[in-house]
Amino acid sequence: MTYRMQLTRVACALAGALALAAGPAFAQAKVKVGFMLPYTGTYAALGNAITNGFKLAIAENGGKLGGRDIEYFTVDDESDPAKAPENVNKLIKRDQVDVVVGTVHSGVAMAMAKAARDNNTLLIIPNAGEDSITGAMCAPNIFRTSFTNSAPGYAMGKVAADKGYKRVVTLTWKYAAGEQSVGGFKEAFEKGGGKVIKEMTLPFPNVEFQPFLTEIAALKPDAVYVFFAGGGAVKLVKDYDAAGLRKTIPLLGPGFLTDGTLEAQGAAADGLLTTLHYADQLDNPKNNAFRAAYKKAYNVEPDVYAMQGYDAGQLLAAGTKAVGGDMSKRDALVKAMHGAKLDSPRGPFSLSRANNPIQDYYLRQVVGKQNKAIGVAIKGYEDPARGCKM
Ligand code: PHB
Repeated sequence: MTYRMQLTRVACALAGALALAAGPAFAQAKVKVGFMLPYTGTYAALGNAITNGFKLAIAENGGKLGGRDIEYFTVDDESDPAKAPENVNKLIKRDQVDVVVGTVHSGVAMAMAKAARDNNTLLIIPNAGEDSITGAMCAPNIFRTSFTNSAPGYAMGKVAADKGYKRVVTLTWKYAAGEQSVGGFKEAFEKGGGKVIKEMTLPFPNVEFQPFLTEIAALKPDAVYVFFAGGGAVKLVKDYDAAGLRKTIPLLGPGFLTDGTLEAQGAAADGLLTTLHYADQLDNPKNNAFRAAYKKAYNVEPDVYAMQGYDAGQLLAAGTKAVGGDMSKRDALVKAMHGAKLDSPRGPFSLSRANNPIQDYYLRQVVGKQNKAIGVAIKGYEDPARGCKM
């Protein structure tokens, strides 16, 4: 045997010994994570923040899930419900991912939830609030780290009634998120003695707000409640201010109106009141650490979307840890995820029977470039999960 052959033998023996010592993980394939998020269009910044937040949680977990390396697959869903069934099938059927993480838009998320149910795919929703996904469509393999659309609206309806407002006009994109947000607002506001005098809508993702602002000026309501997010929220807040309405008719909304948007909105957002399950300066150790780490990694301030993506990563890390990275142990995996108590930047939370966060909703005010918590609108809110059987 030549010296070279001897060397090769030694190397092979060493590699074998190492593989044995490392146990099964050594030979294991990577955990396949499929992101289906908007990377273009009015919600593009939201998709990017979620991706960044998720990857930060994974980095803090040693870059692994349940001890295994990760392979990412990415689909830009463009916030287009018409393309959603095909897009989600790319991840489920073509790429055969172990878990799908997405999305932002409720209409797209509906198609994803349906596909997750049909194929028994693990799905973690890091934003889209479509109420029915953790209602009648609930399933053990479907999780959400964000909210139901009606919840922040409900919280603001209570705040508006408590402020003594009587006549309110609503304005939103006409699709599930806006409609359910307005529905939640209306329920609490009218229960508290107010009246929604007019519900205005425009198609998603249109931003021709002028005719609506003219009508609002003529109607002179006590306040206006709107649902917009991302690029659309930036434009609405600027147009509302430019129309001279900000100081005369209070503009209210769920926190999406001013989250991740303040740099672009500038002084037009000054003083706005919103309700959300997160605020920039929540003074808990986890939030302080999260904000510092996110800023360091990406050189921008995190927002609610980054936080929800981060918690999607934390939730998956908790589940995969419980099964040592063995994704075939599905029952144990989802049981661990369902029972997880996450130390979140929003504050610790657990999941409802329908796998939706049980959490506080804060009243926030825009001060400078921050959404500052100025009170708790609703403590420990649990969505009723109407129609959920599990
Ligand atoms: C949704 O479509 O569910 C949605 C989108 C953006 C948000 C919140 C909810 O900021």
